[in-house]
Amino acid sequence: MSKHFAVAIDGPAGAGKSTVAKGVAQALNAIYLDTGAMYRAVGLYMLRQGVPLDDAALVAAHAPQALVDVRYVDGAQRVYLCGEDVSQAIRENAVSAAASAVSAVVAVRELMVARQREIAAGADVVMDGRDIGTKVLPDAPVKVFLTAAAEVRARRRFLELQRKGQEVPYEQLLSEIKERDHNDATRAASPMVQAADAVLLDSSDMTVDEVVSAIVGLAKQRMEERRA
Ligand code: DC
Repeated sequence: MSKHFAVAIDGPAGAGKSTVAKGVAQALNAIYLDTGAMYRAVGLYMLRQGVPLDDAALVAAHAPQALVDVRYVDGAQRVYLCGEDVSQAIRENAVSAAASAVSAVVAVRELMVARQREIAAGADVVMDGRDIGTKVLPDAPVKVFLTAAAEVRARRRFLELQRKGQEVPYEQLLSEIKERDHNDATRAASPMVQAADAVLLDSSDMTVDEVVSAIVGLAKQRMEERRA
């Protein structure tokens, strides 16, 4: 059994994973690792280099040059690509589709998963992504599959982008979310799937605080069991 505690939160885009995971990490005094940000950094690299995203062999060949690093500044995760802080750049809407494309490439996943496991081996973590409970940390004591209706997720994304001054039509976001769900769930390499031992939470009608409390409650219960 790992000496560090881990909470794995998987689920589709826009389910609220990152907001919830941050809250859980704070409550448990753990670090938060947003693994999607790492795939986004690789996607950004390929976009910048002009690597065709539908050419898996080329993406795989370029992947080792996309040096992704995660550091914590004042407790917040920052993502670096070849030494440059790209924490903001990876949030551009165009990077979402690029991240989804590169995340289907096995060589990219192997590099990211190795780094994610290294981080989990050194600290208590709350990690969110698509394959954390199934592949990255299959022994995590707490696994949650967090979801919400596609329309609710598209609306949240619309409001989030609007707050950042990016006006993207709701209908476009809804179709992008559905397309990403499809890509992430049907790819051959580590598809997004609920782990058999994960707790399913649908956040469509739950507040962030309610979801955080549910997961923190579960984590505390597991911690007690581990101590017993
Ligand atoms: O969570 P996000 O939207 O930032 O993730 C970006 C993309 O990366 C998403 O389309 C799926 C992929 N991803 C993945 O395949 N595995 C993870 N552990 C995290 C994200």
